[in-house]
Amino acid sequence: MRRKILLGVNIDHVATLRQVRGTNCPEPIVAARLAAAAGADSVTVHLREDRRHIQRHDVEDIAQHVAIPLNLEIAVTAGMLGFAEQLKPEYCCLVPEKRQELTTEGGLDVQSNIAGISAACQRLTASGIQTSLFIDADADQVYAAKESGATCIEIHTGHYADASGTEVTTTELGKIVSAVRLGRELGLRVHAGHGLTLANVADIASIDDIVELNIGHSIIARAVFVGMEKAVNEMKEAIASAITRP
Ligand code: PXP
Repeated sequence: MRRKILLGVNIDHVATLRQVRGTNCPEPIVAARLAAAAGADSVTVHLREDRRHIQRHDVEDIAQHVAIPLNLEIAVTAGMLGFAEQLKPEYCCLVPEKRQELTTEGGLDVQSNIAGISAACQRLTASGIQTSLFIDADADQVYAAKESGATCIEIHTGHYADASGTEVTTTELGKIVSAVRLGRELGLRVHAGHGLTLANVADIASIDDIVELNIGHSIIARAVFVGMEKAVNEMKEAIASAITRP
């Protein structure tokens, strides 16, 4: 029997909605609690340097008051690493950040920045934090991630999610399958995420060896209409049925 895939729910966009009005609602911590109550395995927040959505106090409140593990996404900067060392979330996912992007557009270039990323992994590991690197589905990046000392990789599924046409989609899916397999062979814990929806999650969830999927925008968008509990449960069911499909 295949194992279950863990679901991490990214709640950044609850904070996006709050920030557009500069008020106190909706509160990300309430979203985190509802996601936990609905069976999410972890909650993810990205504390961006421009603070466009999640704020430092959100991360601190969630770390302190929400029962499921926290996955803190950060850029590889001295300030962010220092914050993570203080906070000690269960997981840290290192991501690239660009000011102009609407969302994280691609994976970290671990290969070209191996010294800085290895040093970051070492610092976080020394603080007892499991460190994940968000990378494209590329063998060189998977090897570099292993060399950096990270314990996990998160394979960027955004190019697959954005692909149009069967040929491109199949090509992107193939890259993800190979990267996941390589990561596993190298002894890395493999996560995946970005751009996943109820419509496209099945092919990713049916890849053997993926331990966790991190999904944000589509769950929060659906929760606006049906509530967080139903939105999380629908995604969990879509993942579970992909795992058991013949
Ligand atoms: N994983 C990482 C590393 C991300 O940066 C994001 C987006 O913040 C996600 C997963 C979730 O992506 P989406 O919101 O498209 O589901």
